[in-house]
Amino acid sequence: MSSETMPLLDRSLLARSVQTNLARMEYADWKPATDAVRVGIIGYGYWGPNIVRNFHSLEKCEVVAVCDKSADALRRAHRAYPGIELTTDFSHVLNSPDIDAVAVITPVWTHFELAKAALLNGKHVFVEKPLTSSSSQAEELIELAERKNLQIMVDHTFLFSGAVRKIREIVNAGTLGPLYYFDSTRVNLGLFQHDVSVIWDLAPHDLSIMDHIIEAKPEAVVATGGNHLNGHADMAFVTVYFPGNVVAHINVNWLSPVKVRTTLIGGRDKMLVWNDLEADEKIKIYDKGVHITTGEGVYNLLVSYRSGDVWAPKVEQAEALKVELGYFIDCIMNGRKPSNDGSAGLRVVKLLEAADQSLKERGKLVSL
Ligand SMILES: NC(=O)c1ccc[n+]([C@@H]2O[C@H](COP(=O)([O-])OP(=O)(O)OC[C@H]3O[C@@H](n4cnc5c(N)ncnc54)[C@H](O)[C@@H]3O)[C@@H](O)[C@H]2O)c1
Repeated sequence: MSSETMPLLDRSLLARSVQTNLARMEYADWKPATDAVRVGIIGYGYWGPNIVRNFHSLEKCEVVAVCDKSADALRRAHRAYPGIELTTDFSHVLNSPDIDAVAVITPVWTHFELAKAALLNGKHVFVEKPLTSSSSQAEELIELAERKNLQIMVDHTFLFSGAVRKIREIVNAGTLGPLYYFDSTRVNLGLFQHDVSVIWDLAPHDLSIMDHIIEAKPEAVVATGGNHLNGHADMAFVTVYFPGNVVAHINVNWLSPVKVRTTLIGGRDKMLVWNDLEADEKIKIYDKGVHITTGEGVYNLLVSYRSGDVWAPKVEQAEALKVELGYFIDCIMNGRKPSNDGSAGLRVVKLLEAADQSLKERGKLVSL
């Protein structure tokens, strides 16, 4: 359906879209019109409604417009937020002088084009994971945002969950001792994506969490897996090697009969289990470990196992997406670069590309 026949289209947005001069302001000149950042959201499919709901709930944010190609999607948006302007044409959002920041909540292959156009029009951007379909695209967005003094934030939602924030605190405090491994399982039945493999759909969550928790730079990637239904990998095992013998392993699968969201982090001194499906006690820390002393010769290894207390630290319950979007607004208002910026997005895209290459070559080690 064209924007001409779209019954819900707010014509005022269309009329204002001709005034593009203000939209092209540099960040240095940018001042919020009020004390709120005005946001336009492109994409109101499965994930978009969560973004709109959370932006809408923030005091220092005003949701000005929602754009989606689909009339049905806009009808849903209208029912939930009758006052918000609606359009089927993303250029109305990108050109509107009443919008300071654009959220790109569309399929992966559209992220680059939409985010680039938003940056060129002087808008800050919030882009879904994974940031882009290639590292060269991510590099171009980063360079553009730097040049125009605008913020890019990539939606690495889990970094803002109480569980991941607690895990990072525990790891950084040295509670686990030097890390041995990070082992994450994210499996369930579906949701099959048409345009990307399970690696590009689900693994960005685990890779961004891994990137947030393990400070060292990864050295190499190995990926194996299979595609059984639509030509894209629907199950995959991705191994990431770090210096110092730290190994990360990620199991993502759309063909699992049960949903599992469990991460194990093993250290020399303690071991941690995060089960995100637990309502309470999502994180447990085990005072367990293995100690090896070498006697005379290799046949005299003395292995002792330690099995001590288990405890469950308190985990904040706030909705991760709300915390993240509040941080995005705060970064814009204070001219601060977010920690989940374009570079964080690029690191994840590089790992996804390496995993793709390894998968194609049936598990070949790909150096980073
Ligand atoms: N952070 C998370 O936990 C999380 C969860 C789910 C999805 N996602 C990400 O969100 C993005 C969208 O995923 P989804 O599951 O909502 O997809 P979806 O297909 O359900 O929704 C995408 C919507 O974008 C619209 N659209 C596409 N191109 C457009 C264009 N050029 N202009 C206007 N509208 C356009 C479509 O009509 C559709 O309604 C993906 O990048 C995905 O990886 C993130």
